[in-house]
Amino acid sequence: MKTQLLIPAAGMGQRLGAQGPKALTDLCGEPMLVRTLRAFSGLGLLPGAVVTIPGAYASEFRNVLASAFPGTPFSLIDGGAERQDSVENGLHALDADTDIVVIHDAARPFVAVASIHASIDAAIAYGAATVAIPCNDTILEAESDDFLCNTPDRSILWACQTPQTFRVDVIRKAHEIARREEFVSTDDATLVRRVGGAVKLVRGTPLNFKVTAPGDLALARCVIEGGLA
Ligand code: C5P
Repeated sequence: MKTQLLIPAAGMGQRLGAQGPKALTDLCGEPMLVRTLRAFSGLGLLPGAVVTIPGAYASEFRNVLASAFPGTPFSLIDGGAERQDSVENGLHALDADTDIVVIHDAARPFVAVASIHASIDAAIAYGAATVAIPCNDTILEAESDDFLCNTPDRSILWACQTPQTFRVDVIRKAHEIARREEFVSTDDATLVRRVGGAVKLVRGTPLNFKVTAPGDLALARCVIEGGLA
């Protein structure tokens, strides 16, 4: 089975207050994207990986990748306004003979190799899989004025992470239908589920958090300086 990596990295990090693309934010001496990609190198998934980027920063991304991974070919594709648009563009850029696509946020630099393996195995078995972790916190559903309206049963709740891994035909069809029906989601597995596909949940790790706000960036730097990843 030919497996290809797709990294959505076109976000501009508004919530991070970043001056430029979030994926190029410095994490203790190297761009976040480089650290994220390195997790996939042992699996042989870097050559031919598709990375969606903000088009205006193509030369910066090209330089960063050439210096961190000399000689490794990447396919840099312009992202879209939303993550879903970026992933859709990336799906169009996959090689014609790719069977399985591993979609992983550039903003999750501490993904465990075991989680990547488990998501690929589950996608081969079931067609679609997402890494996720059972919720430890009680989740509150609020009304628009920040008053509590509902408290879902925590025992069935998981927090979504990436990688999300799919048979290419399954995820392409799910995106196509979402586009046609103007349905927007912050992840890809949801698109598969809403058209009736099975999505296997694969247990991730708390370290695989998404760098979103300045506090996450501080935490990411502590993780590295503390030798935790
Ligand atoms: O915005 P958020 O942090 O949820 O984005 C998750 C991932 O999707 C990030 O790696 C980000 O670079 C990427 N993204 C993208 N295109 C967008 C928005 C986000 O590729 N338009």
